[in-house]
Parts: sequence; C-alpha cells; structure tokens
Amino acid sequence: MIGIFDSGIGGMTVARAVEQLLPAHSIVYYGDIARTPYGPKSPETITRYSIRNTEFLLNRGAEIIIIACNSASSVATQTLRQHFDIPIIEVITPAANRAAACSRNGRIGVIGTKATVKSRVYEKTISALQPDFKIYSRACPLLVPLVEENWLNKRETKMILRRYLSSLKNQQIDTLVLGCTHYPLLTDLIQPRIGKRVTLIDSSVETARYVQSFLEQNPDIVHNKAQQASRRYYVSDCTETAVTVAQRIFSRPMELIPA
Ligand code: DGL
Repeated sequence: MIGIFDSGIGGMTVARAVEQLLPAHSIVYYGDIARTPYGPKSPETITRYSIRNTEFLLNRGAEIIIIACNSASSVATQTLRQHFDIPIIEVITPAANRAAACSRNGRIGVIGTKATVKSRVYEKTISALQPDFKIYSRACPLLVPLVEENWLNKRETKMILRRYLSSLKNQQIDTLVLGCTHYPLLTDLIQPRIGKRVTLIDSSVETARYVQSFLEQNPDIVHNKAQQASRRYYVSDCTETAVTVAQRIFSRPMELIPA
C-alpha cells in the first residue's frame, strides 16, 4: 500500500497522479487539514507533524511513504529516513530533475511556501545538476490558504498571483517549478500571468512518475496489490470546503474520513 501525506488537500494532486499511473495499487492518504498551512511554520514543527503523519500511515498499512508536500520534503525528509525503515519519497528531486532537463536558457523560477523557499532546497538540487543555472525563488504564502478555501477563480487570487509572479517575469525565466503541491490547482491562472512560453513543472506529476519507476525497479516493496485497489483518504479535520476541493481534484464524489 502506498502512503501519501500532505498538510492538507494539495497532496491530493500527487495522489491523483499516482492513481492514474499506478491504478492497481492501494493508496492511503492523510491530509493534516487541522494544522494547515505548514509553510509558515518552523522546520522543527513541520518535522514533528511529518513524523506523526508517517506513523499514522504506517499504522494503516503503508509500505512506502510519499511526502506529498514540498514544505515537509524540504525540511523533514532526512529525519523521516532516519526514523522509519521504509522508502520515503519526497517531491523536490523529481521536480528539480525535470526543471534542470527542461530549461534551455538556464533561468528557472521556483514558487513555493516560505518553508520551501527558505530551505533553498531547489537551488541546491538544481545547482548540483546544472551548476551554471540561475534559480529565482519566490515565496507565495497566501496561495495555500486560497486553494484550501477553494478560491481558485477569484479576482483576489488573480491579483495576488500577478503580484507574486511579477518579480519572476522580469528574470526571463523559461521554466517555472510549481514547488507546492497545492499550486497545480492554479495552473490555469499561473500560465497566462507568467507567459505562455514558460514551461510549468508540476511536482505532483513528476513525483508520480518517479514513484512508478521506483516501484518498477523495486517490485518487492509493495505487497498488497489488490484485485480491487483500495483508496482511503483521511483528514485531520473534515470540512465541507475540503470535500468540494477534493471532488474537484479527482472529478468524482469523494469520501474524506475524519481521523
Ligand atoms: N502542499 C504543501 C507544499 O507542497 C503546502 C504546504 C503548506 O501547508 O504550507 O508545500
């Protein structure tokens, strides 16, 4: 069984991509909606929450964990790998790999939460692959609450995005990493504002591809492949808005299980 967690519903963009690429696998998801957003919190707090989220998933049969949250991936991956004896997949490396391969002019933008941008993890990972590339990062702390509130097409959201993206627009980037798993829900607003020539890298899709090839190379890790794959989506606080956004992400009725 594949265990996936996020601070809220954003990680469901990763779960959706995993469902599409690995339909035979069972998924158990945990969205820590009661404590979202993680981005403005300290690395210590995010790490503490991440340990608890991982334990929750292990207790429900997870054999591999996807940290479907850039903020937690940036600051908690090492600790989780030390604490738990199962594969821990983070979302930064797959997105950074793709961005490094994709950029033609060597100018890459990254948008993410404060925790992710402050960690400089994208700079470090991309520079290790392409030392001459220039990385321009921008923290966008208001976007996660807007997505969690389902304000996906509001005038205010568009205004805030324009403001966040303006500094990156001046840097002639040709690639923009959506360094937060909530942001794929804003793709239709981001693309026209950053410019149609800029390639958007979706960490959700890249991570699902990475997990697919990881499981192909390590076929013994996940044992309980069921005839009928089970999907359980737990949340630490079940709100009507969360259900609405989840249904929008998966395009089907969703049951969120309070935990
Ligand atoms: N989806 C999380 C991420 O990828 C959002 C973190 C937050 O709650 O601020 O960073």
